[in-house]
Order: sequence, then C-alpha cells, then structure tokens
Amino acid sequence: MKKILHIIASPRGERSHSRHVSSYFIGKIQGMHPHLQVEELELNPATLPVFGKPGVFAKFKSGAGVPLAPDEREEWESAKAVWLRFQSADTYVFSIPMWNFAIPYELKHFIDLITQPGWTFGVSDKGYEGLLRGRKAFLSFAAGGNYDLPETAGFDFMRPYMRFWCGFNGMESFETTNHSTNQSIDHDAVLRECKAQVDDILLKNYKAE
Ligand SMILES: Cc1cc2nc3c(=O)[nH]c(=O)nc-3n(C[C@H](O)[C@H](O)[C@H](O)COP(=O)(O)O)c2cc1C
Repeated sequence: MKKILHIIASPRGERSHSRHVSSYFIGKIQGMHPHLQVEELELNPATLPVFGKPGVFAKFKSGAGVPLAPDEREEWESAKAVWLRFQSADTYVFSIPMWNFAIPYELKHFIDLITQPGWTFGVSDKGYEGLLRGRKAFLSFAAGGNYDLPETAGFDFMRPYMRFWCGFNGMESFETTNHSTNQSIDHDAVLRECKAQVDDILLKNYKAE
C-alpha cells in the first residue's frame, strides 16, 4: 500500500460526521503503514471539470475509435486527468453524507467522470469486468436518520449504490455508517460503534507493513 486517496463528498469540513470516521480510519492505517502517502480530494465545482455534450460525444466516439473534435477532446482529457489522479492511488477512502436518500451530486459527478470503459471497467464478449481488482475502498457514510430499521431500509439509495459501484469496478469495499446525526440520540455511542467497526475492518482486511 503506497497511496490513499481520500475523496470527500461532504462540504462541512471539520464538522462532517462522515469525515470524522474517515480521519480515524486514515490515522490508524498510517500507523500500520508509516510511509503511506495520503492525498485529499474535496469534491466541489472547482475540483471537477464539466462533462457535458462534448464529453458524452467523446465517450461514445473514443469507444468506437472515431477521432474527437477539439471541444470533445478538451472535456475527455479533463475527465481523464481526474481518472489518472484516482488511478495513481491504490487504496481509497470515501466520506459520503446522505443527501436526499442518495449520494451528493458532486460524488455522482466524480463517478460519471471516471467510470469509463477501459478506465475503471472493461467490456468484452463475456460482459463487464471491473479493472480495479485488488484495490480496496473504505466507505464512511453519514446520515441524519437511521436506515438499518425495517421501516426505513427501503429509503436508502446511498449505500446500495456505492457498494454496487465499487463491486462493478472490481473494488472490495468496507463500510461504517455514522447514523442518526440529526436526531437526539447518544452520538458518542454511534461514533464509538463506527470506530470499533473500523478497528475490526483494519484487523481483518488491511495488512500492516
Ligand atoms: C442537502 C442535504 C440533504 C440531506 N438529505 C438527507 C436524507 O435524505 N436523509 C437523511 O437521513 N439525512 C439527510 N441529510 C442529513 C445528512 O445526511 C446528515 O447531516 C449527515 O450527517 C451529513 O454528513 P456529514 O456530516 O459528513 O456532512 C441531508 C443533508 C443535506 C445537507
């Protein structure tokens, strides 16, 4: 393990619950890998290029080997720069707040930039194949409510989507959820539970150097 990329989808900085647990995970893993490089990517309009009509045309054209127009090339190369930054890491940490029962739009934007055939996944006669095999992603979720109850589980489109996206692209994912952050419950108890889950995930799935 050489480099962690911490992808931050919460704009709440130090007050972010998802980021709090990610910081704990990163601190612990740095203890296991003293030479580990940690890079942060805060997702916001300044860090993500536009992927509009030229980008979409470029996506289909490059798959078919058709030359790109200048505006298509520009958007495609900008998306590729984001992908190359992602590819340069071998381990990932995602800080993910629930927004309207799903992931924040900037994280979806990021996913739409990098999830391209030949980059994160391959396509062949046999179907789709994840190209990120051997890489691990720690997903630190936070939600105002609790979606582990029978009556609310069906409202959660955040965790199933992220689990699927990781698996589709070949990554193994591990997760914790800092839940009920908008409710008056014992938040320290939930945080302690998340940290215990992190300790367990690290013990069982991440080897020390
Ligand atoms: C735009 C927006 C939409 C939200 N939608 C939901 C939601 O659908 N369900 C929920 O339980 N909490 C929702 N919340 C609350 C957040 O999930 C909660 O505050 C969480 O702790 C945020 O994570 P963070 O502290 O890492 O930013 C929403 C918050 C924002 C800002």
